[in-house]
Amino acid sequence: MTKITKKSLDSPISDGNAESAKPVFHDPKNDIRIYQGDCLAVMAALPEESVDLIFADPPYFLSNDGITCHAGKMVSVNKGDWDKSRGADANHEFNRAWLAACQRLLKPNGSIWVSGTSHVIHSVGFAMQQLEFKLLNDISWVKPNPPPNLSCRYFTHAAETIIWAAKNKKSRHTFNYRLMKEENGGKQMKSVWPVLPPGREEKRFGKHPAQKPLALLERVIRASSNEGDLVLDPFMGGGTTAVAAARCSRTVLGIERDDEFLSKTLSRITAELIFVAMTAVSASIDLDLLGRSMDRSMCDENTAMDALKTGKLVRRERSFYFVGSHRREVVYSVVAPDMEEAIQKFSASTQSGVEILMVVKTETEIYLAE
Ligand SMILES: C[S@@+](CC[C@H](N)C(=O)[O-])C[C@H]1O[C@@H](n2cnc3c(N)ncnc32)[C@H](O)[C@@H]1O
Repeated sequence: MTKITKKSLDSPISDGNAESAKPVFHDPKNDIRIYQGDCLAVMAALPEESVDLIFADPPYFLSNDGITCHAGKMVSVNKGDWDKSRGADANHEFNRAWLAACQRLLKPNGSIWVSGTSHVIHSVGFAMQQLEFKLLNDISWVKPNPPPNLSCRYFTHAAETIIWAAKNKKSRHTFNYRLMKEENGGKQMKSVWPVLPPGREEKRFGKHPAQKPLALLERVIRASSNEGDLVLDPFMGGGTTAVAAARCSRTVLGIERDDEFLSKTLSRITAELIFVAMTAVSASIDLDLLGRSMDRSMCDENTAMDALKTGKLVRRERSFYFVGSHRREVVYSVVAPDMEEAIQKFSASTQSGVEILMVVKTETEIYLAE
């Protein structure tokens, strides 16, 4: 594991520092690689035509000291220095640079999705035209419960745009049309997607000021890639793309510059890996009623223990896995302080009608090996 170092975060524009080719986190089993650094420098060090799908949620350049409404209170729109505008020309130059880097990395039939509000999305679309991407769709991500507009001088902002484009005119991009139709109750899926913003459960590792909902990312990934494909997110923030890709059995490469966002992302991803592993194990669950105890690990003990002595505790949690009576699978899982609250949450969930065989409780402490 490479040490995470503090970097200057003054500008969203690339600093060209290429101390970048080594991931700060690498899970070889699920092939998840996370890099810390400027995305331009990291992307320059990656091999061309190696990525199947890119989701990019770049700085929107909207942190302009305005106000908005959050939880009924007037708050600043500022998200951080990384989101400040540098002027239209510099912003556009930056968008063109990272989009060109993404285009180099895409396989011939690969595609890219970029989200944004009006502050950035027109520049992104224009840069894509300049670089001769093939524009496929612009999705309207509609927020069903947007904050009210406090100035009363505009319509309430209730949507973001996500442009979907293929590498170039010759690309034969992946589109899982049937799957999308099936997910839309048998009707062709439209380009208007109402999706709720991330709820409390998705923010339990700490929230990112621009965090996207998992449901949005899972749809993007399922629509335009296949299992085992490599998904890249050059502006990973709170790690939503990485978690969604792992859930959809895709491999992941994420890049983020900020120390604080990166640590939250690492706790989120490591907890997710435990969840994915538990779900997979439980699919063929074997009732070990005699409770034979045995060491099920297959690691080289000395190396693993040495690494853990200095490891950093990134997450401690108690999870409850509800296993169904008929299909011996985990039908519901939840993080809760005790069984009582776990049962309450299960009863309030859409799975409450499923007959339960047993509940598996796990206490998890996750250490990142140094
Ligand atoms: C809009 S947020 C992404 C949020 C993410 N989609 C999520 O769901 O959590 C953009 C992120 O890009 C990071 N960032 C800004 N400029 C960057 C650069 N040049 N290289 C790498 N990361 C950068 C910021 O620190 C921020 O976390």
